[in-house]
Amino acid sequence: MRPDDWERVKELRLDALRDPVAHLAFLETYENAAAKPDSFWQDRAVTSGEGSTTARQVIAETADGSWAGSVTVLVEEAGTTDWAGFPVERRQGHVVGVFVRPEHRGNGVIEALFKAGVAWAWEQQAERVRLFVHEDNARAQAAYRKIGFAPSGLVVSFSKDEAEKELEFVLERSV
Ligand SMILES: CC(C)(COP(=O)(O)OP(=O)(O)OC[C@H]1O[C@@H](n2cnc3c(N)ncnc32)[C@H](O)[C@@H]1OP(=O)(O)O)[C@@H](O)C(=O)NCCC(=O)NCCS
Repeated sequence: MRPDDWERVKELRLDALRDPVAHLAFLETYENAAAKPDSFWQDRAVTSGEGSTTARQVIAETADGSWAGSVTVLVEEAGTTDWAGFPVERRQGHVVGVFVRPEHRGNGVIEALFKAGVAWAWEQQAERVRLFVHEDNARAQAAYRKIGFAPSGLVVSFSKDEAEKELEFVLERSV
């Protein structure tokens, strides 16, 4: 994704937040995101666009130029504290914003997105890549296992409802 793609970043994100499983998949609501000013999306497109070394949003584009899906990889530095208050012990990638448009699901787009996102994380010297997935998001969990991720055993409360859980899935660097 390039910084001048910000309007398409916004459009894809708002579509993701209207997905039937958005309440499990994403912490943000459609209403909150839709209310954000253009400057928010412009900043996001700079901080996770081509040229940034702290985050990278990867887009799957179809032959006609439309966007089929996206993942974003954030770099987490060793010695920092993560969003849930846990120490980050190793430099790692953290995948967020995983979304494939319904009409492109089940055809390998998710594998292609992760291949590019994970390769970028290794280029940034990450030692592992992780993500969090809701305990009831069975399709996403199956997709992550297929790609090579496995549960680490770390379970955190889902911030929208403390009674629900999110599972950490990890892909270790092999070389
Ligand atoms: C999660 C997501 C990116 C995965 O992409 P996808 O193209 O749907 O994934 P795939 O179909 O390749 O893989 C999912 C696997 O789960 C299986 N599956 C489908 N529905 C399932 C269900 N309800 N329960 C369990 N497994 C299911 C599929 O059969 C497939 O396995 P297979 O390839 O061995 O047949 C996509 O479904 C999506 O955008 N979902 C909405 C947003 C979301 O949940 N994001 C993740 C937030 S952590």
